Order: sequence, then C-alpha cells, then structure tokens
Amino acid sequence: MMEFRNQVLRQLKNRREGFSLEQPFYTDPEYFKLDMQMIWYRDWLFVGHDCELPKKGAYFTLQISDYPVVVVRGKDDQIRALHNTCRHRGSRVCTKEHGSAVRLVCPYHQWTYELDGSLLVGRQMGADFDKSQFGMKKVHCESVGGYIFICLANEAPDFAPVRAAIEPYMKPHRLSEAKVAHQSTIIEKGNWKLVWENNRECYHCAGNHPELCRTFPEAPSVTGVAGAIDDPVILEHWQRCEAANLPSEFNMSPDGQFRVARMPLIEGAESYTMSGRNAVSRKLSDDVTIDGIGTMLLFHYPTTWNHMLGDHAISFRVTPIGPEETAVTTKWLVHKDAVEGVDYNLEELTHVWNMTNDQDRQIVEENAFGIRSPAYEPGPYSAMHEGGVMQFVEWYSNFMVGRLQGEQAKLSVVA
Ligand code: FES
Ligand SMILES: [Fe+2]
Repeated sequence: MMEFRNQVLRQLKNRREGFSLEQPFYTDPEYFKLDMQMIWYRDWLFVGHDCELPKKGAYFTLQISDYPVVVVRGKDDQIRALHNTCRHRGSRVCTKEHGSAVRLVCPYHQWTYELDGSLLVGRQMGADFDKSQFGMKKVHCESVGGYIFICLANEAPDFAPVRAAIEPYMKPHRLSEAKVAHQSTIIEKGNWKLVWENNRECYHCAGNHPELCRTFPEAPSVTGVAGAIDDPVILEHWQRCEAANLPSEFNMSPDGQFRVARMPLIEGAESYTMSGRNAVSRKLSDDVTIDGIGTMLLFHYPTTWNHMLGDHAISFRVTPIGPEETAVTTKWLVHKDAVEGVDYNLEELTHVWNMTNDQDRQIVEENAFGIRSPAYEPGPYSAMHEGGVMQFVEWYSNFMVGRLQGEQAKLSVVA
C-alpha cells in the first residue's frame, strides 16, 4: 500500500504544471479509492439545504462512496448527521431518500434510535445491556447560509474559516428560508475531477452552451480565478452591490479550496432564462434591495458550485460513484412562498440549466472517452481561458501531496 501511495506522491510532485493529469487519475479504481480516503472521507462536503428539512424529524439520506449517511432535524431543531448503519448488526437504518420520523427505527430487528442518534430501545437485549454504548455514530455537521456541510473524519478540519468567508456573501440571499422548487440528478460517466475541470472554465461555453451564453458572460475574468479586479465592468458591479450591502469582491481561500465572488451577467440580463428576465416574480429575499445583482458564485471543493441570483439560486452537488462515474445534483431554490404557475413557470426556471447540465454531461463523457485511450497524454491548459482549471488541479495536487506526506509522517512516528 505504501508503495502505491509513494508512486502517486511522486507522480503528483513531478506533475507537469499547466497540464492535465496523467490517465490513472481519471480512470484507475485504486486512484479513485485514494481520492476518497484523502479528500472525500476527510473534508467538509456540501450535502443539502436546511430548507429540505423543514420540520423536526425530517431527514434525507445520501451515500458518499462507501459511507451511507442520514441528515436529520432533531427535536431541538438542530440539524445533525449520523452514520446510517445500525449499531446492532450494521443494517442501514433509514432506507428512503428522504422522509419524516419521530424516531429512527432499524428495519432489521427494530432497534430504535432518537433523532439525535442515541439508542432508545434495543429489543430484548437483556437486563445488563448498556444502551448508552450503542448510539448511531455521529458525523460532523455544520450549517451556513442555508447550506449543510458534513465531514466523515473523526477529526474534522476547522470549519470556522469557511463560515467566516462565505456567510456574509450568502446571508442576504436568505436561502435558509427558501424552498427547493425543483431538483435533478444526472449521472456523468467520467471521473469527479473531470466534472470539476469542465466546470472551472468557460473556454467551452461558446461552442456548447447556446442557452447559457444568452446571459452568462464567458469572459475569463468572470469565470476564472484571476483578472476580475482589473475589469472595470466587474469593479463597477462590486461597488454598486456593496453599496447595497451585498458583499461582492472576489475572495478565495489561501489554500484555494473555496471562493466567493459576485459577478455581473451579460448587460441587461437578470437571471438564467432564455429571455434574460427574472424567472420568479417573487424576489428571493427582501435583503436584496437593488436589481441587476448578477450572480454570486460560490465553489467549495470537492462538492459544490453555486449561483445565487436576485430571483432564485441554483446549487450543484458532485457525488462520485466510481472512478468513471459521477452524479451531479442540481437544485433550484426560490422564495418559500413563491407559487408554481403563479410566481414562476417551472420550465422557464429550469430550462437553461437543464440544457447546460446535459451539454456538460456529454462534454465530460467525451473527455473521459478520449482519456481512456492508451494514446492519451496530459495536454496543456490555456493560460488565458483555463486558469480556473489549473487552479483546481493545483489545489487537488497540493491537497493530495499534503495529505499523503502527512500519512507518511504519521507512519514514521509509529514505526
Ligand atoms: S441490524 Fe439494526 S436492529 Fe438488527
Ligand atoms: Fe459547461
């Protein structure tokens, strides 16, 4: 195992900068497993929205590679995440994608848990059975700006810097009070990193996204990670929005894991519709007092990118299924009192991103197809258009190298 990890470490350290990764990073099951162990099982992951758990006892389940998890709102209104594996013999306790319960009851032998995971009843286990030892295991859980993040590790990285940076940008959109008007999950037959690489550039937009390009600028200063500060249109946009109490300036974490920035849409456009006009007549939040706020872009590796507009917001969640299979879940959030057919038309609200998602799926699948070829070799990113992709690959590499070296250090201490 150590040998394999050393090999990956060497490959990442000797990586040709500004080039795509070598083939196994996109295809090999062992590399995929290592991604899971080093990143997905150890870092903060976006899983869903507070507003999807509107009442005490509401829950949803999800699968992070090997880990089934349930996220549930407790009797005390607190949202918690639990390992969805029974402490009796390990059956999955909650089997539905979402639901509502007074208690969580395992379907196998009906061990019954409180909503906070503590074991209430272990049926006929004898007088000396100590229930307190067999609660469902807890998963770290944080909620910020209407977004729920979990971390599967025993010790989670500090969430405070994420909260401090992104909360002020999210807060005015009041997404904890919104509702999910629609959601879709598509399966893309490609590695999760290809999904991200595709997301982090708009070099492909003009040739592939006719609907999105009606309203979303393809300028690298908007879509990338550099140049925004030198763009007079963006600067003016920030000034106008900040004057209306909407934090806007480009802000990326020092390690490159997350970024927030408010960007203008194409002149005259308000929202991602074919007409460019708002899709929802009922505004998302009363804290947004001006029109033309563009889109607040948030990404947090490895799970989520987002667009928060004046009339609605769209969240995206990446879930790796296998080395060459990734699910992308999109949710359209609107004001909780907005009524379908009155305040918005669902087709109009979802059309642009439904089309865009499907176009991106095809792109990712074609990319994965070509990378499977023995003739594939890492190719150069465009410095002008693919700065965001370089930044993602850089983050991935540094993160993996840091963690792999950390593991080595731990092992040498043990030895
Ligand atoms: S496995 Fe859950 S009650 Fe037996
Ligand atoms: Fe795209």
